[in-house]
Amino acid sequence: MPTPTTTRRWVSDLSSGYRALELQPSAPLPTLLPHQVLIRIKAVSLNYRDLDAMTGYYNTFRTHSKTPLPLVPCSDGAGIIVAVGSAVDLAETGVAVGDEVLCLYNTEHMAGPVTAYHMQTGSGLPLEGCLTEYKILPHYATVRKPAYLGWEQAVTLVGGGSTCWTAFFCGMRPLRPGMTVLILGTGGVSIVALQIAKAMHVTTIVTSSSDEKLKTCATLGADYCINYTHSPNWSEEVLRITNGTGVDMVMETAGQKTIIQSLKSLKWGGLINDIGYVSGKGSDAELLGVSLILIRKHAMMQGVIVGGKDVLQEVANFYEKARIVPFVDRVFPFDQAKEAFAYLESQKHMGKVIINLE
Ligand SMILES: NC(=O)c1ccc[n+]([C@@H]2O[C@H](COP(=O)([O-])OP(=O)(O)OC[C@H]3O[C@@H](n4cnc5c(N)ncnc54)[C@H](OP(=O)(O)O)[C@@H]3O)[C@@H](O)[C@H]2O)c1
Repeated sequence: MPTPTTTRRWVSDLSSGYRALELQPSAPLPTLLPHQVLIRIKAVSLNYRDLDAMTGYYNTFRTHSKTPLPLVPCSDGAGIIVAVGSAVDLAETGVAVGDEVLCLYNTEHMAGPVTAYHMQTGSGLPLEGCLTEYKILPHYATVRKPAYLGWEQAVTLVGGGSTCWTAFFCGMRPLRPGMTVLILGTGGVSIVALQIAKAMHVTTIVTSSSDEKLKTCATLGADYCINYTHSPNWSEEVLRITNGTGVDMVMETAGQKTIIQSLKSLKWGGLINDIGYVSGKGSDAELLGVSLILIRKHAMMQGVIVGGKDVLQEVANFYEKARIVPFVDRVFPFDQAKEAFAYLESQKHMGKVIINLE
């Protein structure tokens, strides 16, 4: 097959939201540089961050001068390498045409803690993302897809898997069998966290606004389920479940409306993984409360931002060994990208929402 010179892709103006996404039927592809590979994207996993980015709300890491507009959104992609640059040689780089790969979230983040520089190489903001049939990346910005997983499942490892792995194993207090972890909500990251935690033989407590979703969490191995709408003071439930001790770790995905309850749910010396803010970004007024509880419980709180190539490789290895089957809620075709984002925005989903480009 001749190397494609154009691609079908969705682009965003990064201010008007997903409803203003525009489908470009044949955008030109630049010539491959020696160290680059061309990937036929097969599946894209949607993230809350993608919604944020398309409204201009996720502006922490955007460099306005460098972000090309309009921009292809979405950080998480997986696909097959269909062409390589002149310096990409299997013996030298370990990469070849035909490889099935996961695309790295931050293209230049190879190992160790994330830096501001790595964030300037983020796929889908500020660099071109994955909602495109063909994508160009440096050869080193890929990790082999676990062979036992289909595209729609494997792509969930990119952002969700890396974020949970960084939170669980790369920070102040690594997760160990026998610990108890509290997971907030049943969105994309939370369900990945549940599946990794269960494979680690960790006790899990999951909160959700929906009894239906909690029933499904139980089938995925959740040990305890709390409906946070029915139990607004859900930290009391957590303390009851843990005999007054609290949990070792919280996967804090919701932010403003949950952080104080999360801290109340924590064991002395426990760890809050500060991941997201689906309930709001918060205000300084709450900071005093957070600070006081941290001191009072001799607790820890760490910010989490995805992970580099080393982390994604570890995630892929772990899934391969543990044979985890990622939970995918719904798959949309490429042409229905707007419908897929509307579904994500509705929060009716549980786990991952995927766009299929096969
Ligand atoms: N730091 C990082 O590297 C990183 C990586 C990925 C994601 N994130 C962040 O993590 C957050 C979650 O991302 P995602 O992609 O998993 O989002 P998502 O799939 O859109 O999550 C939506 C879910 O959040 C839950 N939720 C909403 N309000 C809640 C509340 N008050 N308490 C508990 N749960 C609540 C709901 O679960 P129920 O319907 O079950 O109630 C909802 O379905 C976002 O803020 C995102 O930006 C950060």
